[in-house]
Amino acid sequence: MAVQKILYDCDPGHDDAVALMLAAGSPELELLGVTIVAGNQTLDNTGRNACHVLQWLGREEIPVYTGCERPMVRDRVTAGDIHGETGLDGPVFPPLRKRPEPEHAVRFLVRTLMSSQGDVTVVTSGPMTNLAMALRMEPAAAEKIRRIVLMGGSYTNGNVTPAAEFNILADPEAAHVCFTAGRPVTMIGLDVTRKVLCYPEIVERMARADTCASRLFVDLMGHFCRTQKEVFGWEGGPLHDPVTIASLLDPALVVTKPMNVRIDLSHGESYGRTNCDAFGYLGLPATADVAVDIDVPRFWDIIETGLRRYSETGKQA
Ligand code: BDR
Ligand code: CA
Repeated sequence: MAVQKILYDCDPGHDDAVALMLAAGSPELELLGVTIVAGNQTLDNTGRNACHVLQWLGREEIPVYTGCERPMVRDRVTAGDIHGETGLDGPVFPPLRKRPEPEHAVRFLVRTLMSSQGDVTVVTSGPMTNLAMALRMEPAAAEKIRRIVLMGGSYTNGNVTPAAEFNILADPEAAHVCFTAGRPVTMIGLDVTRKVLCYPEIVERMARADTCASRLFVDLMGHFCRTQKEVFGWEGGPLHDPVTIASLLDPALVVTKPMNVRIDLSHGESYGRTNCDAFGYLGLPATADVAVDIDVPRFWDIIETGLRRYSETGKQA
């Protein structure tokens, strides 16, 4: 398979951090840049966290761009109950050398897409504010996107309200802009990411890889799995965001179904819900390929391979 060019927009976040490890360490992917949005925590925190992770992995050359501090319309929400005060509570990192680039993430997205050959996949695992703003700033950038692959939404229950999943609820208007941009969309929602629960035996398995990445994984999951248990009662934390990157590495990993998807923008009790017409009741054209199933053992194999691709030490010092 040819190397796939990707832009990765995220709000690290424990599961974003694992996705970042996978994206930065996979030779099948060319990671053109990491763009950062406020979501799980404030922009200062999520930007710092991305830099910490890349520095820890010895991948400081991968550029990080910080973007939007706030959603397009609604008030900001964060997920401190899951990800802690820093957004990445748990691991202890050495002093930070790596800094975000001076260019704003939205400008970087526009610049990179416009100078591309239309061969870039944009992966998002946070609120979709940066991508939506890029599409508003330069509408012609849409044509340059090969596909949008997002972690977000749900056709079953939400995880912030009964109706809505965090990444969509945190900026529903941005999600609407992205879903209606006329580009292919793969929506990887809670319906499948709740199937990849990181049970203690999975953490033990990854620990045996004994690389800088696997040690970080263990520290991240220590916090994440505890808060997921406290908030949702899961015995293992659902490792939402890495499913996006893993699905690029193995196109057979996730089963999708074309559906008409509309974001609830009513500002009522279902604000931010992804209304997915799984049975085609509305007779409307499909607007997204929605993930409906995942090969769970294969997912953990991909994660383990990704963690083993790093050296024992990284560049922690
Ligand atoms: C999503 O919300 C965030 O807390 C996670 O990082 C993930 O992207 C799951 O709803
Ligand atoms: Ca995230």
